Amino acid sequence: MLNARIATEHWHVTYFEWTADVEVGHAQIDEEHKRMFALAEAVVEPLFFSADQQPKEAPLQALIDFTRVHFAHEEELMRASAYPEAESHARYHASLVKELETYCARVRGRSNTNPAGLVAYLWNWLVVHIHSADRELGEWLASH
Ligand SMILES: [Fe+2]
Ligand SMILES: [Fe+2]
Repeated sequence: MLNARIATEHWHVTYFEWTADVEVGHAQIDEEHKRMFALAEAVVEPLFFSADQQPKEAPLQALIDFTRVHFAHEEELMRASAYPEAESHARYHASLVKELETYCARVRGRSNTNPAGLVAYLWNWLVVHIHSADRELGEWLASH
């Protein structure tokens, strides 16, 4: 009885939950980061509710595509405000895109991706950059 109830209950867990802790203080950048959280959530969420633990092509591609758009926006903000770290920040972006594409190419063909491992990977991929380079950029944009 107890087992049956646990099995049928709908559990909703948010893996990429947006919190104020992740804000960098620039409205457009924060909105776009929020969207990246939602896109990352869309990649991992189905894996926890299906027997087939292969990440789907469409949400992975949506995350990569919007990441490129977001990075281009940040790079435009850096140029427009003559940000001194623009070049190294853009290089960091390029390496993040490359890394995500490599990672996605690896998980694409697999039927047994470890969902928790994918969450941990994407979480680090997303949040380490936000807490370092994007936070510094947010501070610059607030004062220039
Ligand atoms: Fe960003
Ligand atoms: Fe950035």
